[in-house]
Amino acid sequence: MQMNKVLVIGSGGREHAIVEALSRSPKVDRIYCAPGNAGIAVLAECVKIGVEDVEALSEFAEENGITLTVVGPEAALAAGVVNKFKEKGLRIFGPTKEAARIESSKEFAKEMMEKYNVPTASYRVFDEFAPAWEYVRNRPLPAVIKYDGLAAGKGVVVALSYEEAENALKDMLLDASFGKGRVVVEDFLSGPEFSFMCVVSGEKVYPLDLAQDHKRAYDGDKGPNTGGMGAYSPVPFISDEVRDIALEKIIRPVAKGLVKEGVSFTGVLYGGLILTDEGPKVIEFNARFGDPETEVVLPRMKSDIYDLFNAAIDGKDYEIIWNPEAVLGIVLASNGYPGSYDKGFEIKGLDKVTGSVYHMGTAEKEGRILTAGGRVMMVTAKGENLRDAQGKALEEAAKIQCDNLFYRKDIGKQAL
Ligand code: AMP
Ligand code: GLY
Repeated sequence: MQMNKVLVIGSGGREHAIVEALSRSPKVDRIYCAPGNAGIAVLAECVKIGVEDVEALSEFAEENGITLTVVGPEAALAAGVVNKFKEKGLRIFGPTKEAARIESSKEFAKEMMEKYNVPTASYRVFDEFAPAWEYVRNRPLPAVIKYDGLAAGKGVVVALSYEEAENALKDMLLDASFGKGRVVVEDFLSGPEFSFMCVVSGEKVYPLDLAQDHKRAYDGDKGPNTGGMGAYSPVPFISDEVRDIALEKIIRPVAKGLVKEGVSFTGVLYGGLILTDEGPKVIEFNARFGDPETEVVLPRMKSDIYDLFNAAIDGKDYEIIWNPEAVLGIVLASNGYPGSYDKGFEIKGLDKVTGSVYHMGTAEKEGRILTAGGRVMMVTAKGENLRDAQGKALEEAAKIQCDNLFYRKDIGKQAL
């Protein structure tokens, strides 16, 4: 009989949650993770291969008889890992680098939305500082300025003053501190935000339950934008009707549009959406599972995720069944994040936590777990409802002792 061996690419909390979901499948015999992390190592065999080393990843899959590979991070997609695996006839879940441009190029995403009538903020694209600044200074605040390229969630500035806007444009277009300069300036949208992740296979869409991320660093949605400081699922203030509108007016047209453009998408199409007075609109698309949303959505999935991945790769129908309970997670981050921070602080108390802990940026040294990234770990708890889950998650987070971590105490507030 054939052994089902799965390789997960990535090293964060998202990949930890994917590995955990796969480990619940009775059909999966063995899980590998490249490169993985200290938490993932408990559930999978970690292999020292970087996420962008597509040659080494595909060789590993060939040599070890991997039957399914699942891609976590955008960097691996942009490096063409799916293209390479497909060339070699290896099964992989994720979009090609051309299809992943829906995330990696804000300009491509905006063009797609314009062409297929998907509601989003209107925008202008700039390559030069002078005309960009001229445009922004003559428009109302807040100014929304986005770096066009991968910037790990940190390439967006919502400037409340012209000074802040000017500095952001300078950073992105003059100093090239992000790399090659190009920005999208767009209208400011207001309303509650939510994350709608859908598994997509060409024109087929398999929606996941909704989640809400918390992008700002500090309580009360203050401070700079981060990769995400906490999340919960489901999202009670988004009605089924709004979700269905989002599915029919946003996700399906984009999936169909990508097929029409000759860049058919297989993987997770993540809509970062905002519920405005005019209905749901798109803030951004990602071509992968969200982090930290995955850590609160996958634990609620009753269906076997291995079946879901295979159904998507083969373009077969599949209905996902969900558990009704709520899951809420709090990210513990290094002091200073999303700016510069120190690493190497020991994390204690993990053995006392009864909820699930997803490692995001940790390292193991002689049996001790140390901080090794900006976002270090996410502590999650399940509850009958969100209030219950929030109370438990806060209790669990307080059990973790470390000299250099901070976290938000108000995750889930918008829903309570
Ligand atoms: P993004 O990386 O594009 O999701 O942007 C990060 C955050 O910036 C979003 O979660 C929003 O809170 C905010 N943002 C981005 N675009 C807009 C917009 N057009 N209007 C208002 N807020 C925005
Ligand atoms: N949580 C936002 C993202 O994954 O980009």
